[in-house]
Parts: sequence; C-alpha cells; structure tokens
Amino acid sequence: MKILLVGNGGREHALAYKMAQNPIVEKIYCSKGNGGTYFENKCENIDIDNIDDLVNFAQTNNIELTVVGPEKELCEGIVDKFKEKGLRIFGPSKEAAQLEGSKAFSKDFMKKYGVKTAEYSKFYNLKEALNYVENCVLPVVIKADGLAAGKGVVIAEKREEAIKAVKDFMEDKILGNAGDGLVIEEFLEGVEASILSITDGEVIIPFISAKDHKAINDGNKGPNTGGMGTIAPNPYCNEEVLKDFTQHIMIPTLNGIKKEKLDYIGIIFFGIMITKKGIYLLEYNVRMGDPETQVVLPLMESDLVELINSAIDKNLKNTKVLFKNQHACCVIASSKGYPIKYENGFEITGVNKVKAKTFFAGAEEKNGKLLTSGGRVLGVTTIGKTLEEARNKAYDSINKVHFDGIYYRKDIGK
Ligand code: AMP
Ligand code: GLY
Repeated sequence: MKILLVGNGGREHALAYKMAQNPIVEKIYCSKGNGGTYFENKCENIDIDNIDDLVNFAQTNNIELTVVGPEKELCEGIVDKFKEKGLRIFGPSKEAAQLEGSKAFSKDFMKKYGVKTAEYSKFYNLKEALNYVENCVLPVVIKADGLAAGKGVVIAEKREEAIKAVKDFMEDKILGNAGDGLVIEEFLEGVEASILSITDGEVIIPFISAKDHKAINDGNKGPNTGGMGTIAPNPYCNEEVLKDFTQHIMIPTLNGIKKEKLDYIGIIFFGIMITKKGIYLLEYNVRMGDPETQVVLPLMESDLVELINSAIDKNLKNTKVLFKNQHACCVIASSKGYPIKYENGFEITGVNKVKAKTFFAGAEEKNGKLLTSGGRVLGVTTIGKTLEEARNKAYDSINKVHFDGIYYRKDIGK
C-alpha cells in the first residue's frame, strides 16, 4: 500500500512512524514532510504546495490512502476534491471542517445540539462588539471566528485588554479575514484536557486522554505556543470526568453530526475544560493535536492504518481501539526566542544517543545532517509504567540532544 501524508510537523512525523509499522504499507509519501520523515522508515518527502497538485500526485502514483495532518487543507476542502476523483482519503469534508474553521459555526452547533459549552455572543460589527466588551463581566474570552494558528484567542482580565483585542481583530485586522467575525464568551476556570477520537459519522471512539502544556515557560507562564510538551493519559481525566464528557459532549456531538448529515470521517479532537461545574467543551479540532499525537500514538496498540480503513469503510462500530496500560511523556525542544523571534540553521546532534523516539518538527535534512528550521524543533517521547518513570526517561533523553539555543520546559507532567 502506498500512502500520501499531508503535513510537515511533529504530528506528521508521529503519524508516519506509526503507519510505517503496518507490514502492508510499502511507502509513505510525505508532503512536504521534514527532517524526521526524511530519515523515517518507508518514508519519502515530496514538495507539493497545493491541493490540485496533490490530487494529481495521488492519481498518477497509485496512492491508495491519503491522510491529512493539518486543519488548513481540511478547511480548504482537500477531502471533497479527493473524493470527487474517487480517491480514498481520511478526513472531514470542507463543510464538517468548519467545526474547527469557524468558531461561530462550532459554537452554534454546540448550542443547537446541547453540547455543554461556555455562554457566548457573536459579532460581525465593530461598534456592537466594543459596546459589548465595555459592559461585560471580566475576565472575558475574545475569539476570532476564523483559523488563526493558535493566535485567535485572547483572555482579557482588564477592560482595556478586551477593547484592544476587539480592535486588533476587527479594525486593525491583525489576523486578516479570520477576524471579520468574533465570538465573545464566558471565561471558564479549570484544567484543560485533550481528547482525540476517531469517527466514521456513525460512532465516535475516544482515544486515551492527553494533557498539553501550552505556555512557553515553566509553571504555565509566558506567551502561548503550539504546545511545549504532553503527557498521556491526562491525570485529571478520571472515570467520572470521562463519563461526564461522554454524556454531555461526545454523544450530543455525534447526534449533531448525524442530524446535520455532515460528511465526517476522520479525527475529532475535543478540547475540554474540567471545571467545578462539570466538563465544558472549549473547541473542536478536526485533526490530531500537536504534540498530543506524539504521546497518544506511541501508546496505541491498535494498528493505525487498519483503524483508518475501518473508519473509511464505516465499520467503527465493529472496531476496538486498544491502548497500552502505560504512561507517555513528550518534551518539546524549541529554538531560543520562540514563540516571538528565533534563528534557524543550527545543527542538531546527540539524537542517536537518545533511548527514546524523537519526533522532528522544525528540522530539515541538509547534506545528511539535521538542521533547525522552525520554532518547535523536536520532541522526545518516552513510555513508562508510571508518569514519573516516563517523565524521568524523557528528561534523561532530551538532556543528550544539542543545538545552539536549545530550550525546553523542565516541568512537563509535573
Ligand atoms: P480555543 O482555540 O477555543 O481552544 O482556545 C484556545 C485556548 O484558550 C484554550 O486552550 C484555553 O486555554 C483558552 N480558552 C478558550 N476558551 C476559554 C474559555 N471560555 N475560558 C477559559 N479559557 C479559554
Ligand atoms: N496542541 C493543541 C493543538 O494541536 O491544537
């Protein structure tokens, strides 16, 4: 089987690594991949930057399955275009991908189907949005409607911050069209969890829970990043939490998908907040999380390619997804200055001394060497019988990796 994998992050390296374990898989073309997929078993990087050319590539190279990592292509309708040509692809349609691509769409969906979420209002007019934040309860959460690569949410504790956020998005257009509409919502206090799951539109099967660490500094201080580390399972996701999640979030979501007749075969990722008043849904993502994937997949015992095929064949009701009864920890190493400003091009060494799986993100191959090429450079994932064992192994490993300006949090999973 030949697979096409779209994306170039640590998530995609982890997807490639896991899919390569299936004996039927002969080759995985990664567009455009990174330094990690360059060296990965069965993988070959190709550089195609638009959907039509990807369709073309799949047709001319007898690709039997296409897997899409990032939300961007899903929201642009890559799945619809592949299906029009009769190509087998795993992911939600363009319409269904709005569950991530538009905050207004997803909040309206949650409300319509009784998915427990924060109270909210929608705005498409600057004056009305300003008028609202001048009088609302603080803190308040201001979200740009469109895709914003993690930069579209502001938690305003002070009135001036709320006003500035509204102006930044709607007047100064710092996120372009993504800020044409706003969702302004109630602030929820609690702990977050990531629950990735797979759906064939008929059932949703949740994966093992995970916990992301979004802030750049220890103690969750400093600006938010794409994620500086993850653990799985999430220690806060006990049985009671999972029951509440199933009843108030997952089941109503599935009902909504069915009632709206959304063509949704793919990953659905629930970003939840565990509060004193129960479990709330913060957001849907229509793809795997990064770096959640880097801890969830190494714990998955089931074969990922078989699982994806079973979803595409609408056979998940007869499928079990098994996870190791263990703990995983992923510590991300980033470039000095990330997420604000950083330099690239430094050689990465010591990875061969690491007794852990290293998943690369912002790293590229040049003349047989690996050089830094992004903010989040790599992550090491380790597994242990306890969280502590997994953590200790992860830190022992990352200590052996070097590049100029290497930075990582010291408290992942603490
Ligand atoms: P979202 O893209 O909607 O998940 O928002 C990004 C991040 O903002 C979340 O992971 C939370 O840390 C935070 N956030 C979003 N909505 C809320 C809320 N209603 N209350 C508190 N924090 C929130
Ligand atoms: N780690 C959070 C995300 O992938 O959105």
